[in-house]
Amino acid sequence: MNDAESPVPVVFSAAEIERRNRQLAEQIAADMGRQFLVVAILKGSFVFAADLIRALHRAGVQPEIDFMSLASYGTGRESSGRVTVQRDIADEVTGRDILLIDDILESGRTLDFAKQTLLDRGANSVRVCILLDKPGKRAVNLKADYAGFVCPDLFVVGYGLDFANLHRELPYIGHVDRG
Ligand code: IMP
Ligand code: MG
Repeated sequence: MNDAESPVPVVFSAAEIERRNRQLAEQIAADMGRQFLVVAILKGSFVFAADLIRALHRAGVQPEIDFMSLASYGTGRESSGRVTVQRDIADEVTGRDILLIDDILESGRTLDFAKQTLLDRGANSVRVCILLDKPGKRAVNLKADYAGFVCPDLFVVGYGLDFANLHRELPYIGHVDRG
């Protein structure tokens, strides 16, 4: 199906995202060098991370890649204060420079937890890269080092992001009415 004909309206198109990923990758490569550990937060970041690491390759980076699955409990729509690790990374992080990748930064609790966990384990540095930033919603003091787009105050889906586990497959970022 053509993205423009999809019932989920486009917020950021596949072409815009691809362009922005290339810029992010060049900036990250310039700051972090050729070798570091990527930790992608599941499930939401899997599409973004897959595209970003290939853009990083084109920018001359040879990253190691691991995944961490986090869950936050609360109303179900917004993350609560309690974040738990559902699947941990396998790699040793002591002394490593890490790029954390996530889909969207809202309250900041999820990424704050992930960043602090890796620093507590002895990581040398942890930088944060997100595709979307909702800066008006922050509950903790966390800034992304790299952000793709400032996200309008909509519930967005696609490109890995879901609503009730649907719409992750959309090649673009769209928005849904949660009713
Ligand atoms: P927070 O920064 O800890 O509040 O949580 C961010 C997480 O909430 C993201 O990783 C998403 O899983 C989820 N989230 C926040 N806003 C949206 C949205 O608009 N669409 C889909 N998921 C969202
Ligand atoms: Mg998420």
